[in-house]
Amino acid sequence: MEEKDFFKHKAQDYEKEVKKVDNVKNIANLILKEITYKEDMHLMDFGSGTGLLLSNIAPYVSKITAVDISESMSKVLNDKKDKIHCVLDIKKIDLSKETLNKKFDGIISSMTIHHIENIEKIFTTFYDMLDAKGSIAIADLDLEDGSFHTQDTGIFHFGFNRDEFLGIAQKVGFKNLKIQTASIIKKSTGTYRVFLLTGIK
Ligand SMILES: C[S@@+](CC[C@H](N)C(=O)[O-])C[C@H]1O[C@@H](n2cnc3c(N)ncnc32)[C@H](O)[C@@H]1O
Repeated sequence: MEEKDFFKHKAQDYEKEVKKVDNVKNIANLILKEITYKEDMHLMDFGSGTGLLLSNIAPYVSKITAVDISESMSKVLNDKKDKIHCVLDIKKIDLSKETLNKKFDGIISSMTIHHIENIEKIFTTFYDMLDAKGSIAIADLDLEDGSFHTQDTGIFHFGFNRDEFLGIAQKVGFKNLKIQTASIIKKSTGTYRVFLLTGIK
């Protein structure tokens, strides 16, 4: 059965929201402070969307595989492929159900894990997709009251408790874990904190 594209009517205007762009810029800046990427590295961006996160990281690596379930979001990214400063490979897959037969030097992700039901399973998938000492940099919302999203985009979690989130990564085997505030989003519905979890295999 064809998956529902929750972002079909959002994709074209996704980057018009300044708060959204600024949030991901804050996340990217903190990732680049915490992790030293090398020019020959190949990363995966999980839930790459229109490419807001990967476009900030691209100048520091050789290749990024952009994984997203949404055809419409990936189309927006594909249309600006020439402006991304590394080799870009776009894969339309649901990583909660399938995997890629590839190993990466690092995995990045912003604002996507709350769309995934089973966190331990996706962290295990990440672990298996990384080379030895490969890094993770995963940003998402702190626990919120459900007011962050005003439309249903396929949400399983109203943010996360940081200790529990880090604990799951630890259980799966990730090391050198650190979780810290990456960004604060102010909306008319409230103020929402975004954390960044970093670690290595
Ligand atoms: C809120 S957007 C974030 C996009 C981008 N990372 C950013 O920060 O601007 C979440 C993205 O995750 C994707 N996504 C949700 N569930 C997914 C899954 N199971 N596999 C792959 N991508 C998924 C959605 O299609 C969407 O593009």
